[in-house]
Amino acid sequence: MKGIILAGGSGTRLYPLTRALSKQLLPVYDKPMIYYPLSTLMLGGIREVLIISTPTDLPAFRRVLGDGSDLGLQLQYAVQPRPAGIADAFRVGAAFVGRDPVTLILGDNIFYGQGLALLLRRAVREVTGCALFGYTVADPHRYGVAETDADGRLTRIVEKPADPRSSEAITGLYVYTNDVLEIARGILPSHRGELEITDVNQVYVNEGRATLHSLGRGYAWLDAGTYDGLLSASQFVQAIQHRQGIPIACLEEIALRMGYIDARTCRALGERHAHSPYGQYVLAAAPIGASA
Ligand code: G1P
Repeated sequence: MKGIILAGGSGTRLYPLTRALSKQLLPVYDKPMIYYPLSTLMLGGIREVLIISTPTDLPAFRRVLGDGSDLGLQLQYAVQPRPAGIADAFRVGAAFVGRDPVTLILGDNIFYGQGLALLLRRAVREVTGCALFGYTVADPHRYGVAETDADGRLTRIVEKPADPRSSEAITGLYVYTNDVLEIARGILPSHRGELEITDVNQVYVNEGRATLHSLGRGYAWLDAGTYDGLLSASQFVQAIQHRQGIPIACLEEIALRMGYIDARTCRALGERHAHSPYGQYVLAAAPIGASA
């Protein structure tokens, strides 16, 4: 399974925060936003990841994450010359995906909750079309909205409906079989001039090959795409981390727990940043005496 993080766009809703910095590199409390979607893919067992961004911003992502080898990952980068919609990720990333199935996550989507890793790993193992993740929100008109029949089966997804028929938003985490490349090649741009991911997903719905996993009350799905959303996401991460003393989206800790790196490597990574609380988390994840 390959992974793609789409971190493009011009971040107009966050202007002027995004004048010099990509939205997906803005801080969410103590780390750049992209750490969160990358951590989600890692927890899903995905180690080969393509990061797609604008020609201007891509070098900054490379500076932040490098080639991923420190974390036992293989990270690659690709440019999306202009915002052309989420489904354009499958055109830009076609060569990277090759013949593999692929999980796409939007670079501003933050997921939190026990059980998400298991749910994602199961979806990755069992996908026979597309696996989507739904979340109840107070403002569904801002998202792709799921419509289901009496048995809870997905019948339709409507992008940003003026009059939503349900409050279940389709989150920006999508697991696909390899034919998503072909399906994405076949769709036409919407009235916004973009290749909509909802149109791709609707093809799977029509073919009866889309599964909707509803994330229940125990999960947080945070939107960091507005000033208030960004601040709330930071406050959420701060509250949990302070209360538990356990970091969210600490990439080195996840790499260690997933067996991508050993304790000695994790410690060495922590030592590089020992003056920051983040570095101390990394060190604490691999205490001296832990098996290498
Ligand atoms: C996109 C998708 C939408 C989805 C949302 C999740 O919207 O088009 O279906 O619910 O991401 O974050 P956008 O953020 O591009 O407005």
